[in-house]
Amino acid sequence: MDIKKLVSEMTLEEKAGMCSGKDFWHLKGVERLGIPEVMVSDGPHGLRKQDSTGDHLGVNDSIVAVCFPAGCAVASSFDRDLIKGMGEAIGEECQAEDVSVVLGPAVNIKRSPLCGRNFEYLSEDPYLAGEMAASYINGVQSKNVGVSIKHFALNNQEHERMSGSSEADERTMREIYFPAFETAVKKASPWTFMCSYNKINGTFASENEWLLTDILRKDWGFKGYVMSDWGAVNDRVKGVAAGLDLEMPATGSDNDALIVEAVKNGTLSEEVLDRTVERILNIVFEYADNKKGGTFDHEADHEKAARIASQCMVLLKNEDKILPLSKDEKIAFIGGFAEKPRFQGGGSSHINCYKVSDVLSLAKEQTDILYAEGFPADKDEEDEKKLAEAVDIAKKADKVVIFAGLPDSFESEGYDRSHMRLPACQDKLIAEVSSVNPNVVVVLHNGSPVEMPWIDKVKGVLDAYLGGEAVGIALCRILFGEENPSGHLAESFPIKLEHNPSHINFPGKGGKVFYDEGVFVGYRYYEIKKLDVLFPFGHGLSYTTFKLDNLKIERNGKKDTDPVTVKVDVTNTGDRTGKEVVQLYVSDETGTEVRPIKELKGFAKVELKPGETKTVSMELDYRSFAYYSMELKDWFAPGGKYRILVGNSSANITLCEEIELEATKKLPFTVTETTTIGELRMHPELSEVIEKKLVPYLEIFNSGEDKETDAAAEAISDEMTDAMTRYMPIRSIRSFGGASNGDIQKLVEELNSALKG
Ligand code: BGC
Repeated sequence: MDIKKLVSEMTLEEKAGMCSGKDFWHLKGVERLGIPEVMVSDGPHGLRKQDSTGDHLGVNDSIVAVCFPAGCAVASSFDRDLIKGMGEAIGEECQAEDVSVVLGPAVNIKRSPLCGRNFEYLSEDPYLAGEMAASYINGVQSKNVGVSIKHFALNNQEHERMSGSSEADERTMREIYFPAFETAVKKASPWTFMCSYNKINGTFASENEWLLTDILRKDWGFKGYVMSDWGAVNDRVKGVAAGLDLEMPATGSDNDALIVEAVKNGTLSEEVLDRTVERILNIVFEYADNKKGGTFDHEADHEKAARIASQCMVLLKNEDKILPLSKDEKIAFIGGFAEKPRFQGGGSSHINCYKVSDVLSLAKEQTDILYAEGFPADKDEEDEKKLAEAVDIAKKADKVVIFAGLPDSFESEGYDRSHMRLPACQDKLIAEVSSVNPNVVVVLHNGSPVEMPWIDKVKGVLDAYLGGEAVGIALCRILFGEENPSGHLAESFPIKLEHNPSHINFPGKGGKVFYDEGVFVGYRYYEIKKLDVLFPFGHGLSYTTFKLDNLKIERNGKKDTDPVTVKVDVTNTGDRTGKEVVQLYVSDETGTEVRPIKELKGFAKVELKPGETKTVSMELDYRSFAYYSMELKDWFAPGGKYRILVGNSSANITLCEEIELEATKKLPFTVTETTTIGELRMHPELSEVIEKKLVPYLEIFNSGEDKETDAAAEAISDEMTDAMTRYMPIRSIRSFGGASNGDIQKLVEELNSALKG
């Protein structure tokens, strides 16, 4: 299909019309030119296909589909192949239902545990979010269905999401909030992007040329089209000029007419409109010309969802090996979530499920289970009678499993949580039950971290997150040891909300939210502040044990651009087959810039039989060492020492090697009268000029033995002299060294020419 030719045959009105939806879910077609109407549907963890009259948050009209584990869960798998497989299944469902683009993945960084939509998002870490997003996209798009990676960008809360401005500096955006999107573009070429509702530093994402054109297209090389989040368009013409291609959903014809008028009166060039239409049509035909159709098997996908869910659950605590349960033990299940699991979040990602598997009925098929509801799954409601029943069965059991979690009303699209606690009725029940039975396990159904005031009173905690419609099957397999847990946290669990770095500034006031913690999000903050956490980023236990050793670093040269291969041996030292997540962090020891203590730059998940050893290999590149330099307006890896750290959690680093990097880039540096002597000394190439031409003017600061009296030596110590000269601008030699203006000018010139070499 020659898209350029096709666009040249379209009238101005037809072209403007292509830039907005036909209804809630379809793009317009142009019959006379054979342009088909194609459909898009939510995502991300299943297909939510509605008919054209459906509203974007309702579920009534959705077709029946399979609800896979939500983003919070799949990210914890740290398993690229797993999430790719989930993408493939969703892609197949889209083909069967004639959906051209699925609206996901949702990759916004989990800045605060309170964000109402964290359940859909992947991680607090940009590297992990990017890797998982790229794999999901490669899965979906392998079925010739596109994705719409969302919400670009800085949509990290629900409060004022359609009007507020996220205020962040560029380094923070480049290092924390952009990389998941950037990696997706570079590793998976998503067909479409969805811009967010919010403003970024005062400009709506939907009309932000810097974001949609300079960064997305020019910097990263994105080739698809950008659609608006539903209703995110502010000024349509500005949006087209900025790079927003498609407005969704339909808004009548007013905005199309504005585009026509702008082209006619010259405020929008027709070339820009043509390019916009081309981008949309490229994707429309990519889908339409390669449509596969087919059917999908709900039952098979339900089982797939169960297999995925069991790889995501995170065993947070397992004292005295309380898990797995044995069918010979007398087991009590308590909590409404055992019967009615919470397995997905509310809002636009809500799937009309094929069926739901609950752990209680499945476990009962296998063994005798005592059960008491204890508390309801859908609200915070204390009931003395239910509590008493729960305590009563707890007394009779060898082990108690409490199925707790956040009710739907606690976290959802559209609003944020107001605290980080479980419902009070649940905290109370857990405390009371654990005071009558020492063998308690808590299973959590949650989209983001919760405080655990009872943590020392229970022996086990298993986080099922929002595990999709087959969560009960996966839980049964994990609890009874048929499968070995292998999820690791994709986010830190702070001890309390107040410890979270965004706490003071979340969710902001007066239409602005300041990202003042900068790059120190999640573990990057807790580590530098030396704050204890409840559970650290990357943490996850298993029923077996592993050992990491033999760290080897292979490189062909020392330059920052030479790839670095990191190899580690992983051995299963326990007695069950299991999977370990090997995590690779890099720590910048050069001291050039204020940076996190360490950052995740690689990971690998590996399955091992008891006694088996495998070598995993992970690659580091320039970006693994670089920070975003505002002076350079580019990524910069300073020359010097770095530590390569390997472990199975951010808090359990067991292997470490140091490497030295030679920088191929230089930070811009020009000497002026106000350059300090300390800054000059950081450039070895200046040392000769400094010693010969500058130091003589600093005679007055000569200290130590030269001081005439002890009192003088006490008044001006060596340390003080050192600091004073370090922070002194060159021009100070006029005041303290008798230099003339001409001398200073000459010295500055000499220093600058020494810099050039
Ligand atoms: C959400 C998007 C979603 C869209 C369509 C919006 O409110 O923010 O994530 O894809 O609705 O349902």
